[in-house]
Amino acid sequence: MPDAEGLKEAKQFYTDVPQKTEGFFLKGSNAYDWGMKNRLARIFNPETGRTVMLAFDHGYFQGPTTGLERIDISIMPLVPYADTLMLTRGILRTIIPPSVTKPIVVRASGGSSILKELSNEEIAVDIEDAIRLNVCAMAVQVFIGGEFEKQSIINMTRMVDLGTRYGIPTLAVTAVGKQMARDARYFRLATRICAELGAHYIKTYYVEDGFETVTAACPVPIVIAGGKKIPELDALKMAYNAVQQGASGVDMGRNIFQSEAPVAMIQAVRAVVHENETPEKAYELYQTLKNEMGK
Ligand code: R5P
Repeated sequence: MPDAEGLKEAKQFYTDVPQKTEGFFLKGSNAYDWGMKNRLARIFNPETGRTVMLAFDHGYFQGPTTGLERIDISIMPLVPYADTLMLTRGILRTIIPPSVTKPIVVRASGGSSILKELSNEEIAVDIEDAIRLNVCAMAVQVFIGGEFEKQSIINMTRMVDLGTRYGIPTLAVTAVGKQMARDARYFRLATRICAELGAHYIKTYYVEDGFETVTAACPVPIVIAGGKKIPELDALKMAYNAVQQGASGVDMGRNIFQSEAPVAMIQAVRAVVHENETPEKAYELYQTLKNEMGK
């Protein structure tokens, strides 16, 4: 109990200073509740409005992907440079020490493998377990135009409902079937459907032609997946173009962990995303760091 006697009387209410009411920095996110915003503010840097998510959830449908055979060895050195980690709960519990305080985006859909039809997914994580794991968002794959399109959309809307109950955002991941054209028209359709149905942010792919129309037509933040491994300079160009054309960052996997020098590459990606560094300058940084590390 505080001492009730001898209290200092002079109180300062600053009656001439109106209380500040700040808007929230993130696109389309101002109407959410405090917990939801707080989690988004851990994923996206409030200074730049952008994020470098390190994606290494690939094993959930393709097993030990090249570069992810030993996550303890290949990914742990990258963790300090990532803003956010995207992974499965299995890897989180078995490999990532709980002392790591980076925000976690947990892969929350699954149920198919590379041996079968990929769009045949269900929600694969209980909301209670997501809370137990203290995650900042749950990622659900959405297959617009895919065989199990409706099922995957409903997975996402279920996750949005469950997450909203507890202030946990849903990341919709747009998956493109092999037979579909990866163009701006398709991604406008896919990202807009996800946003209209409640996704809090969306992962999609960068396209050379008209990507700015994809970000413009989507009322929530977009992050780009890196896709297949390409030369480092090309990956940096892709990340640069994406953020300059309205993306709120990257959710990059193979172009970082399959790079010749992953620790150098993630720092170069950070320079592009958070400092608007040109791809050429970021590539110079990559090479300098790579040489310093002797690999
Ligand atoms: C696919 O397994 C996941 O959605 C990945 O997180 C996503 O494709 C990003 O990884 P990458 O940059 O390797 O495409």
